[in-house]
Amino acid sequence: MNKVIYDKDHDLSSINTLAELHSLARDCRRCGLRSGCSGVVFGEGNPEARLMLIGEGPGGDEDRQGRPFVGKAGQLLDKILAAVNMERFTHVYIANVVKCRPPGNRAPQTDEAAACLPWLYRQIELVSPRIIVLLGSTALQNLIEPGARITVMRGKWLVSKSGIKIMPTFHPAALLRDTSKKRPVWEDFQKVRDEYLREQRQH
Ligand code: URA
Repeated sequence: MNKVIYDKDHDLSSINTLAELHSLARDCRRCGLRSGCSGVVFGEGNPEARLMLIGEGPGGDEDRQGRPFVGKAGQLLDKILAAVNMERFTHVYIANVVKCRPPGNRAPQTDEAAACLPWLYRQIELVSPRIIVLLGSTALQNLIEPGARITVMRGKWLVSKSGIKIMPTFHPAALLRDTSKKRPVWEDFQKVRDEYLREQRQH
């Protein structure tokens, strides 16, 4: 993966379990977001999943419940997963670019994402997925390329330096605003499911 924006001073390579990483992240004060939210929304799902989903950051429902994607967008995400015979605790691990809710659900700022990304990168290393789906432009721009456009990049496979297959697609919240995005996301998730099944057959 192209680590475009990344705080290299925050070295988490000695942390070897998700539980330990989660407990350290709970006390994170590396940016201002933690002082305005209820708590860290670390991530959830199957810690050994072959597929990882990465969103933007917690909203109000996620902040209250301490879990990712549990509001309206999350319910839609569960339906999208169900449509390809997947389920969040069995087939995927879900995390966000930032782990604390930005005020008013705004997108995270560059410095906030930079401060938080080391947590996500270590999560990726520990889960060790074969496939990552980037949900929306915040995930795309912070993990791949700051100027990248989701409308241009969605639906096309990218491959990280370590061989992880990466599929950018629209964020489920964008589908709630614009139903014409449903079909492309459906198509993208079918590609993801096919690749997932291929991986499963090979390993
Ligand atoms: N939107 C996100 O990007 N992440 C969540 O966890 C919830 C909504």
